[in-house]
Amino acid sequence: MDKIIINGGNPLKGKVTLGGAKNAVLPIMAASLLVDGTTHISRVPDLRDTRTMIKLLELVGGKAHLEGNDLWIDSKHVNKPVAPYDLVKTMRASFYVLGPLLARFGEAKVSLPGGCAWGPRPVDYHLQGLEMLGAKVTLESGYIRAKAKRLKGNHIRFDFPSVGATGNILMAAVTADGTTEIENAAREPEIMQLCQFLNSMGAKISGIGTHKIFIKGVNDLSPCDVSIIPDRIEAGTFLIAGAALGEVTVLEGEPDHLKVLLEKLEQTGANISISGKDICVRKGDVILPVDVETEVFPGYPTDLQAQWIALMTKAESDSVVTDTVYHDRFSHVAELNRFGADIRVLKNVASIKGKADLVGAPVMSTDIRASASLIIGGLMAKGKTEISRVYHIDRGYENIEEKFSSLGADITRLN
Ligand code: EPU
Repeated sequence: MDKIIINGGNPLKGKVTLGGAKNAVLPIMAASLLVDGTTHISRVPDLRDTRTMIKLLELVGGKAHLEGNDLWIDSKHVNKPVAPYDLVKTMRASFYVLGPLLARFGEAKVSLPGGCAWGPRPVDYHLQGLEMLGAKVTLESGYIRAKAKRLKGNHIRFDFPSVGATGNILMAAVTADGTTEIENAAREPEIMQLCQFLNSMGAKISGIGTHKIFIKGVNDLSPCDVSIIPDRIEAGTFLIAGAALGEVTVLEGEPDHLKVLLEKLEQTGANISISGKDICVRKGDVILPVDVETEVFPGYPTDLQAQWIALMTKAESDSVVTDTVYHDRFSHVAELNRFGADIRVLKNVASIKGKADLVGAPVMSTDIRASASLIIGGLMAKGKTEISRVYHIDRGYENIEEKFSSLGADITRLN
């Protein structure tokens, strides 16, 4: 198993080109199952998760060709609407194929994702939403089987604006009979791009980017091309590292997707400058403590919570980080404490002692964003850090060690 080795303490300085957003490309790849033809997707991040989704599309009968960051998906011969446990258990986003397969075939069988490193992560909103559209949903030997001759538009209200459930219902409802209204829908940029992509295919979706989305069912969709939006979480990870260790510019980003993070970084004393789509962060003389509470978009993202905790271990005094989206997403804390950090978690609140004297250590990745926080921790720590189970980081970051290395970090991968 690969390991990442870091010799900490180097300042960072330089520029990083961002890839396309993982959480935008995955639902768009699933949506390509809705059409009988070839979808071309550009700025595709070459990630473990992208490759898992390619495998899944091939298993259901599709053809996929990835060349650099361009992906072609031919869904003409898709004929087996089944997503097996072996794939779904490695990537929960596989569940995204349920909506489009059901819409296209009137039937789909998708393994129920199990728990994950930070809690149960249920899919009840997805299933209740599909039932509201008229599907008969049953659980058979660990698999969700959904059936409906033709889905029927309805009014659906989520208790929480779930990203995945909004995406799944959007893809199911685009060809339903009549109009669907999703109330309390997710407003994340990745969901907005999914809506825009579906509209380019011929769907009739309005209210995009608001809490109320209307989907007027259509009979036909046709294939189209799309270029994936920049990954705001990759951008945020590098910007937080810059605020910890020097000066980092992320190129070709989307500053509007990062407003709250940029405000928070400024409050730490860092200097932010934006030039078109490029964002530069320069560390201040000291890192001031700044509390953060995660929220759905446009709030501070839960996917940058772990990285913020790493930064705060070096702040001038204590801070508090609360996760309101995933209450148990703190598996990185015990690992950061192995560097000498003093972080305590009570329920969904982490209290971080500032001015930690971090010293490199062997640590273990537990999920994608936890791994990113361990890299930031290792870069700030004195001496050698060895991160194991780095397949987690490869799920969501393309060439992360090469990018950090180009900024001056002493970081390598051992195969
Ligand atoms: N929830 C339910 N029932 C459901 C669905 C969600 O109770 O049926 C709850 C969840 O347990 C959680 C909250 O609603 O407490 C939000 O979950 P959501 O459905 O919004 O998350 P998701 O769609 O499973 C996506 C991203 C995550 C990101 C979250 C929140 C993808 C592929 N994944 O997950 O990304 O953390 O939204 O923004 O888009 C990552 O990239 O590392 C990652 C985990």
